[in-house]
Amino acid sequence: MSDLDVTHPWHQHHTSTSPLLAAATGHRPSPDIPGATHRPVWFMRQAGRSLPEYREVRQGTDMLDACLNPELTAEITCQPVRRHHVDAGIFFSDIVVPMKLAGIDVEIVPGTGPVVAHPIRTEADIAALEATSADDFEAALDPIREAVRLTTAELTTTPLIGFCGAPFTVASYLVEGGPSREYLHTKALMFSRPALWHRLAAWVADRSGRFLRAQVLAGASAVQLFDSWAGGLSLEDYTTYVQQHSAEVFDHVTDLPVPRIHFGVNTAELLVAMRAAGATVMGVDHRLPLDEANARLGGTTPLQGNIDPAMLFATPQARETAVRRVLDRGTAAPGHIVNLGHGVPQHTDPGVLTDLVAMVHDLTRVGAR
Ligand code: CP3
Repeated sequence: MSDLDVTHPWHQHHTSTSPLLAAATGHRPSPDIPGATHRPVWFMRQAGRSLPEYREVRQGTDMLDACLNPELTAEITCQPVRRHHVDAGIFFSDIVVPMKLAGIDVEIVPGTGPVVAHPIRTEADIAALEATSADDFEAALDPIREAVRLTTAELTTTPLIGFCGAPFTVASYLVEGGPSREYLHTKALMFSRPALWHRLAAWVADRSGRFLRAQVLAGASAVQLFDSWAGGLSLEDYTTYVQQHSAEVFDHVTDLPVPRIHFGVNTAELLVAMRAAGATVMGVDHRLPLDEANARLGGTTPLQGNIDPAMLFATPQARETAVRRVLDRGTAAPGHIVNLGHGVPQHTDPGVLTDLVAMVHDLTRVGAR
């Protein structure tokens, strides 16, 4: 296994013994485990529109331009950590950032999501992507590396989670040209021209994997691979067309000591297959109770999740009951990182998130349970 640089926060700020890393490596809170002081909690989409300080600094800057501005990226990544005292930062970026850096004409349209000007559907489209230079791509990652360095300099002991999108989810935007409910063009490509699909997915995996590795080498202490839309696939199609390419992404970081979290929505039937792509922690959405997820995974894999985001809009009493239930069910797993079942909704009251972090910390502090 390769080591991280001596100046990496893993060594310099001991993120390797933080609550996040303790849980991700299979430890429950315990006085005997360094760093395992409480169950860690962070939120998918914790940075972003729920925070007034985010809306303020983003004013007048396009989303993808913000992602390529290291100072702004670092500021936005740190905002929720300062405000909520979550146990991790998640790098502020987007799954389509590496696609833009590879030269694809993509923008993020507010209220819609990523929109690709020229959808990738033909052999010529895919050959053109394959002809782009990996060296140029590595050079284009410099603002990402710089943003990670600035971020981790502020976060110090709080680990940064690096991330990227998994090939199916990212390719679905490239092939459809935008968000989709049924992934008809993507699946049509997969089913009718499998060799072409595999070439596209392998290319997306290479560029996303390089983007992920750059974040880790620059200072991230864990990674998350988002296959948000994999739940649109049957288990058979997932293992035939997708799993190997998610594994190719993870391959870019398996020589490094960082935990590898893998998350999808509506993926209860895919959990075991997704883990087999190379994950060391499984993210679970709110549809599958954590004790059931743990049973499906044979009780050997730390879990992340899975408070229903809708609970952020419920009464405090209903929310507390739900949080206690998630904590109880998460006790079954060999390690539990508390999170939502999917991202923070845009109109969430940030005070509710701050209170939720404090509640999780209070209820799970060593000795509390
Ligand atoms: O706090 C964080 O979670 C870190 C940043 C992050 C963003 N996107 C920022 C963002 C992460 C981890 C992502 C990943 C992402 N992007 C995924 C996988 C995670 C998931 O939610 O399932 C997906 C599917 C995308 C594609 C994407 N980008 C969508 C669907 C959207 C929302 C479109 C909308 O306006 O509703 C985006 C845009 C986006 N990515 C925003 C943010 C903060 C909103 C942009 C804005 O503020 O205008």
